[in-house]
Amino acid sequence: MEHRTLGQQGLVVGAVGYGAMGTTFAYGPGDDTESIAAIRRAHELGVTHFDTAELYGWGTGERLLGTALAPIRDEVTIATKFGFTPETFAPNSQLDHIREVVDASLVNLGTDSIDLLYQHVHDPAVPIEDVVGVMQEYVQAGKVRYLGLSNTDEDSIRRANAVHPISVLQTEYSIFSRESEDLFPVVDELGIGLVAYSPLARGFLSGSVGPRSSYAQDDIRQFLDWWTPGHYEANTAVVAGLTELADAKGISLSQLALAWILAQREDIVPIPGSRNPGRVAENVAAAEITFTEDELARIDALGHGVRGKRAG
Ligand SMILES: NC(=O)c1ccc[n+]([C@@H]2O[C@H](COP(=O)([O-])OP(=O)(O)OC[C@H]3O[C@@H](n4cnc5c(N)ncnc54)[C@H](OP(=O)(O)O)[C@@H]3O)[C@@H](O)[C@H]2O)c1
Repeated sequence: MEHRTLGQQGLVVGAVGYGAMGTTFAYGPGDDTESIAAIRRAHELGVTHFDTAELYGWGTGERLLGTALAPIRDEVTIATKFGFTPETFAPNSQLDHIREVVDASLVNLGTDSIDLLYQHVHDPAVPIEDVVGVMQEYVQAGKVRYLGLSNTDEDSIRRANAVHPISVLQTEYSIFSRESEDLFPVVDELGIGLVAYSPLARGFLSGSVGPRSSYAQDDIRQFLDWWTPGHYEANTAVVAGLTELADAKGISLSQLALAWILAQREDIVPIPGSRNPGRVAENVAAAEITFTEDELARIDALGHGVRGKRAG
């Protein structure tokens, strides 16, 4: 698989990464054995970058990913994130809380060093300079290698980067969700790489989307605006158009969605999530797909029909 450079501090990863959120959070109950097989299949196929967070099961997700990657720890990079309060899901980047969470992440992941540590979400109650100051302590102690931000704004990115170089901005980005293009100028200026989360629009761009009634009660799609009645029908029409394009090219809808992201910039890495080894293989194969300018323009035009806000 092609490798991509994220930021200017030396982080290099396979062009398609793996997002482990769904193994323990957001998409209903999973099967740990199958999830571990999916993670290991990703690695066998050339994926080197694996993404998790404290939030994804309050340690459970990190432990599952750590177990899956233990035999191949030296061949991969692991990203995790801090920044929420378990009881309320409210942003929490209080400095002592960061230290507690990062110390626990190291234990949960079974590693001496986290390759990429993100602040998961902007916390208006704590100056970003102080947050990055604590993150930097971990770099200086050799317990974190690179720093990232997620779900934040231009001002915070600039202020954070002035304290310590930020290697990656992780932001929601897909054919369905293009709002973060507003941040492309600042990441270009500062030399920050991009990780695209929810690149399959939480499964809407996967070819197996269903209405809200087809998902478990605790599935996040019960609450997402793309699934709101009215939006759902408009969005399935967009998907039908994209599927026609994919069929004509002999690729799957998921592959079209991921290859479209890879085609937008040289320094972007999508992290699709799947708990199934076969679907992981399908997604990873997107790294080999390229488009003509005409195909990209047709995808963009179809994308204008998307209705509903991203989850944020
Ligand atoms: N920074 C943040 O705030 C933030 C927010 C959300 C996500 N993320 C990160 O981004 C990663 C990916 O995002 P995501 O999991 O929300 O959404 P996603 O990758 O856009 O979509 C995941 C959904 O698509 C399904 N899927 C994946 N590949 C498929 C295929 N080839 N065919 C059919 N269905 C397929 C998965 O089901 P199966 O598992 O059944 O295949 C799952 O339900 C997360 O794991 C997490 O690491 C970060």
